Amino acid sequence: MAMVCLSDFEVYAKKYLPKTTWDFFAAGADDGTTRDDNILAYKRIRFRPRVLRDVSVMDVRTKLLGTEISFPVGIAPTGFHQLACPDGEKSTARAAKAMNVCYIASTYSTSSLEEISAAAPSSFQWFQLYIHRNRAVSKQLVQQAEALGFQGLVLTADLPYTGKRRDDVRNGFRLPPYMSLKNLEGAFEVCKMMSLDPSVTWNDIHWLQSLTHLPIIIKGILTKEDAELAVRHGAQGIIVSNHGGRQLDGGPATIDALVEVVEAVQGRVEVYLDGGIRKGSDVLKALALGARCVFIGRPALWGLAYKGEEGLQDVLRILCDEFRLSMALTGCSNVSEIGSHLVQYSKL
Ligand code: FNR
Repeated sequence: MAMVCLSDFEVYAKKYLPKTTWDFFAAGADDGTTRDDNILAYKRIRFRPRVLRDVSVMDVRTKLLGTEISFPVGIAPTGFHQLACPDGEKSTARAAKAMNVCYIASTYSTSSLEEISAAAPSSFQWFQLYIHRNRAVSKQLVQQAEALGFQGLVLTADLPYTGKRRDDVRNGFRLPPYMSLKNLEGAFEVCKMMSLDPSVTWNDIHWLQSLTHLPIIIKGILTKEDAELAVRHGAQGIIVSNHGGRQLDGGPATIDALVEVVEAVQGRVEVYLDGGIRKGSDVLKALALGARCVFIGRPALWGLAYKGEEGLQDVLRILCDEFRLSMALTGCSNVSEIGSHLVQYSKL
């Protein structure tokens, strides 16, 4: 099967993954309105292309908090990569390193932080934290991530409880017995993995700052009010995210929320986005509306399901090629030339 675009990987993954795994990856909360709108929202935005602008030499590199990446796409944190391929997060780490992009490793990885770090030494990795009721476990993970050389701490803020994903309930989804949440071994039984602390507040950012020197990036912000609070509490980055529509159903598409967050932040911290990125032109639209970089969740899992590390590299390469082409066709040869002048945008 010739893999031409990201939906080809989706078709492959749906065909070959066990149904319970496919359903878990695909799930949105409730009836999936927000999950679907993340994708549809890009189709409502049109470009304002410029022509005759010498696009013979293209530069798609950018920087995240000072670190250079080869193009403005990274791997969003998703759990349980061994469900997609045998080497799990180790494959993800190697693919991200080969493509020189940022990989955000999830608390709910099926490889340990040591394994992830050792699989791709000296690569660009952030650690995504869910704060658990047992704060000692979270503290240890944060400090371990810093000691291992992870370069950023991503606090996921939109999961005080897990959203209602109907197919997972119907399937009685749980990890197979031969897989485990390696970062939580000994601390929790798998059946208690959702022992998250729903009492977390903005004040806990100060607690995190007391544990680590890593920059803190807050993931799951959708409003100008929370964007302002994130900046005031010392976050160095914001990921506009609705968790791929897996948490609150009925919230905005992330590309629609991006605009108010970018306006509120006024360049004080870097703003990133995830949710619904399926084409290079989606990446360009998000950058035009103010994101510095975007992250992919499900498409990375489809790539892993297709051919492990190599499959994820294919996904990233296709996205990069499409992004470069979209830039050229709108008259940009460098990411610094991307701006709101490139899109016609009205929230419908
Ligand atoms: C996620 N997401 C997620 N987020 C997070 O902060 N920690 C996690 O462990 C997970 N786990 C997870 C598993 C699966 C199967 C999915 C699909 C998603 C959310 C993820 O980081 C991201 O916000 C969305 O996946 C982005 O949307 P797209 O790219 O999947 O449309």
